[in-house]
Amino acid sequence: MKKKIITNGGVEIPLLGLGTWLSRGRDCQRAVEFALTHGYDHIDTAQAYDNEEDVGKGWKASGRSRKEIYITTKISTPNQGYEKSIRSLEKSLQALQTEYVDLLLIHWPNLSDIERTFETWQALVELQRRGLTRSIGVSNFPVDLLEDLLGRTDVVPAINQVEFHTFLYQRELLTYCREKGIQIEAYSPVARAKFFNHEKLVKIAQKYSRTPAQVMLAWLINHDLVTIPKSIHEARILENADIFFQLDREDMDILDNLQPQRRLVQEPNLFKD
Ligand SMILES: NC(=O)c1ccc[n+]([C@@H]2O[C@H](COP(=O)([O-])OP(=O)(O)OC[C@H]3O[C@@H](n4cnc5c(N)ncnc54)[C@H](OP(=O)(O)O)[C@@H]3O)[C@@H](O)[C@H]2O)c1
Repeated sequence: MKKKIITNGGVEIPLLGLGTWLSRGRDCQRAVEFALTHGYDHIDTAQAYDNEEDVGKGWKASGRSRKEIYITTKISTPNQGYEKSIRSLEKSLQALQTEYVDLLLIHWPNLSDIERTFETWQALVELQRRGLTRSIGVSNFPVDLLEDLLGRTDVVPAINQVEFHTFLYQRELLTYCREKGIQIEAYSPVARAKFFNHEKLVKIAQKYSRTPAQVMLAWLINHDLVTIPKSIHEARILENADIFFQLDREDMDILDNLQPQRRLVQEPNLFKD
């Protein structure tokens, strides 16, 4: 099965990456180093995670060359705005010990000042032009905001990183993004370990002699989605990488229709009435 996918700007992104939200200090450094020396080529961080320096140290400790790996970071909401986001990326690059990132995202749309979010997009376009990021994208953008953004720019986001897992199958958003050539990147892909004893999931996991986490991740890979499970534990980092196996059509159908469907990550700003 393929392990990389080409995004609309022509840049390849590994389908599997290591998430690092809530991972900091030595735990984060060790997880990044371990992942990069055990089958992962891709790390997801963000200014808001306060761990870019740890990710940089973990990468350096791995001995992997910069060209071989894919690093994503995200502009935090307080750093939005044209000049501010440009300056904030300089700091991120320093912390990450790199001259460029592979993907730069707007972490959340700022609904109380959406113009500032669109200005931030213009900054990302400029940062890509300057070669400080190979590709640019958004995160947590629903269809209406993507529509709004596409009406104001010629540069289509390469990625929309959103919560996406077997318990939050965002079909409408996926269809829309596919139509526009925007790749979905699935965050919280094992639903933050909350549903591992779901009966249907357990049954499918037994059938393939895999764990529920592996089945949840394989479901994303079978849908051609990029995914970034987070763990700081070596055994789980390995488990979450052994996910490139085919699920039968009938099992995909069951997984496509699991209940309950539930959003686990909420940014209060975005979901207020
Ligand atoms: N753009 C955004 O707004 C946004 C929002 C949320 C997340 N993200 C990104 O997506 C990444 C993943 O999402 P997430 O961290 O929310 O959730 P997740 O990857 O679905 O789940 C992480 C949680 O599950 C545990 N876990 C992971 N694999 C496991 C396994 N095989 N067996 C048992 N437990 C396991 C981890 O614990 P241990 O670490 O203790 O193993 C951690 O508590 C984040 O780390 C971050 O990089 C982005």
